[in-house]
Formats: sequence, C-alpha cells, structure tokens
Amino acid sequence: MKVGILGFGNVAAATIESFLANQDLILAKARVPIELVRIATRTPSRAHGRAPVGCQIGNDPHALVDDPQLDVVIELTGNVPLGRELVLRALEQGKHVITANKALLARDGAQIMACAARAGRRVLFEGAVAVSIPIIKTLREAAAANRIASVVGILNGTSNYVLSQMSEHGADFSTALAEAQRRGYAEADPTLDINGEDAAHKITLLASLAFGVPIDFEQVRFKGISDIEREDIEFAKRLGHQVKLIAQAKRVGGGLVIGVQPTLVPNRSMLAMVGSSMNGIALQGDLLGSAFLYGSGAGGKETSSAVLADLLELANGSESNSATGAYNMGFRDAAPTDAIAEGRPESMDAFYIRLRLDDRAGTLAEVSRVLATAGISAHSLLQDAAQGSLTDLVVITHPVSEERLRHTLPQLRHAAGRDHSVVVLPVLEDCGC
Ligand code: HSE
Repeated sequence: MKVGILGFGNVAAATIESFLANQDLILAKARVPIELVRIATRTPSRAHGRAPVGCQIGNDPHALVDDPQLDVVIELTGNVPLGRELVLRALEQGKHVITANKALLARDGAQIMACAARAGRRVLFEGAVAVSIPIIKTLREAAAANRIASVVGILNGTSNYVLSQMSEHGADFSTALAEAQRRGYAEADPTLDINGEDAAHKITLLASLAFGVPIDFEQVRFKGISDIEREDIEFAKRLGHQVKLIAQAKRVGGGLVIGVQPTLVPNRSMLAMVGSSMNGIALQGDLLGSAFLYGSGAGGKETSSAVLADLLELANGSESNSATGAYNMGFRDAAPTDAIAEGRPESMDAFYIRLRLDDRAGTLAEVSRVLATAGISAHSLLQDAAQGSLTDLVVITHPVSEERLRHTLPQLRHAAGRDHSVVVLPVLEDCGC
C-alpha cells in the first residue's frame, strides 16, 4: 500500500517520525506492506532528512494527489479550501483518504462523504476528534448497535488547558493561552479554540456518527471561553463545580440539540476531573448504559497515533463494505433517527447566575421577586461581603427552560443596576458519568 502525505506541519512531521519509530510493529500488524513514498509541502527543506529513505519530497500537492502509484493520501495541510480540493480530487482518482482536518470535515463532510461513496473509497478521520481517544471507532463500531441518547465532551484541549490553569493556578487568560500555544495544543489560529468553533467542528462529526444526521456545521450553536472571568471560576468552585467548555449532542423532546458552551460541571462528574489539555467524553446508549472515555486532546505525537491507526485499518480492511459510504459514517442513507431540532426545544437546565449588585437594602429582595414571579426556584445561593459599594450575588437555579430564563434577564439586569454585570452559564445535567 503506497501512501502520500500532504503537509509537513507539526502533525505530519510527527506522523512520519512515529511511523519510522514504530515501523517494525506497524508492519507486523499490517496485512500488506505500507510504504510512505511521497510528501508534498510548501517547505520541502523541513522534510529533508526526516522522511523514509527513497521518499519523494516536493512542493506540488496536486502532483501528489494525481500520482497513480498512490493508494492512500493522508491530508494534514490544516487548510480548509486547499484540503477540500485535494481530498475530493484524491477520492475521484480512487484513493483512500485519511485526514485530521476537523474544520474541513465539519464544513464539507457531506460533500466529501458523498464523493467517497461514489468512488467506493474510505475517508478515515480518527485524528480529527480528541486525538488519543478512539471516539470515531467507538461510535462507528463498538457502540454501533446502540440508540445513543447523548454525547457530552470536553473536546478542545487548548480551552481546557486555559480554564484549568485559571482554576488551579490562578493564571490569567492570556498567559495560559500563550503557554497552550507554546506547547503546540492550539490551532494555527487560536481564535478557533477560544471561541468554541474547534469543539463545534468536532461535535458536528460526533453527532453525525452517533445519530446518523447529516454533517451540518451551520446547525451547531457555539460559544467559547473568552468572556469567562476568574470570579465565575472561583464562585463555581465554592459551589462544588468546575467551569468547562462542554460540547453536547443530545436528544431533547423530538429532536437533537448540538452545541458548545462554557458550562458548570458538578465535581461528582468525571468531566470535572478532566484537567490540563486532556479531553473526556461521556456517552449514553440504550444498550451500553454509560461510558466515559478520557485521553490527550491535542499534540502532534498523539494525533500521529490516530492517523497511523487509520492507516493500519486501511491496510487490513476489506473495501467491499465501503461502496455505499455507509462504513465511513456508520449509517446507511436512511438513518432511523431524529432530525436536528429547529429553534430552541424546551430543554430544562439548571443555570448559574451572577449578579453584581449595589450593596443596599432592597436589591436582594428585588432579585428574589423577579425570580419568584418567573417561577424560578433557587437551588444554591452565595453572597460575599461587599467590595466597596458593590456585592456579587450568585444563584444556581433548579431546572428551568432556557426560554423562561431569557425572559427574566432584562428584569434581572434592571435589578442589578446600570452598568452592573449579569453572568449566566448553564449547569450540566446528568450525563451518566
Ligand atoms: N487545537 C486543538 C485542541 C487540537 O486544542 O484541542 C486538537 O484538535
């Protein structure tokens, strides 16, 4: 099996290094010999001396994709428009594709999978989500017979690193982000990590694998961690919670809700224990009950583990079941599943509300009146001694519909007073782990 690699960034370089380091073991597990014969990169000089002997190194990715001797193209460019063009061209020419490009798959996966189905070729992407956790193979194979109820995860290593540093070491946001970048966790554009988009790409793919819905990034709501303040992390801790960037795909009423947002996670949940740049995923299925998967979420070497596992899968797999594309995403065309819910279904969640109030008689009563009038009941309450003329009041509510809570926000803002903040974060409901 002859293989070409597109790109020579952090992940591609690590993939080649790992292949060479573990070649004896990899080849001992492969049904057919695997040869890395060609690399295309904008900077060929970086690859010289680091590629297998005899491997052709060039700077023309189109020439690599068109090379008739190749059976497999590994796309590690990290670039969406170029990646799309090269992946589609490789599939049309009858090559299997391995990619870790989650942005590409979340945005153009439907087109790519349809192209793969027409060509009868595989598109494997274990390295695209939670690199050290075999979540793609788990959903496509190990949990295949389950009606999945929810997939809830911490899927962005950079955000988790930043939040963990703020929580455990009192670090400030930008210092923690700079360190995550230095350690190679962050995307080339770290905005994608911090604004929740990278995690949204990943949950888009997991939702499609778990529920059989089309890959459709436009349906996924996301919000990142850039507004999270140290005060909220500290209050959450005092109330027995950790603030985490949570990605979820779950059945609600008659539909599916897929989204990413900063969320308070109770300390009893295993997700609360996922620190540093690690990822964690809680699954609930009608047959398996609950499962929790934990592992590294980022890093070149860690991603190489997933990419090389995909390569071994191709070296050992039969092609006969790929003709309809069913195997790539697990489901055949007519998946017996709910559609992605339109609008906001009536899900009931608990919420954390922090109000910065004037420290004077009557403000607490006003907040209580607003909540009582809306029928929102408080589960926990915390108020600190005033700092000057201001004080923070924190409420964790009992479950309430998001719609109802949103209706009360103008009145809560009014109660807080001019220019005083109101922070609202959801609290994770039971996800089985
Ligand atoms: N930037 C990503 C993260 C890398 O921080 O999780 C792995 O996808």
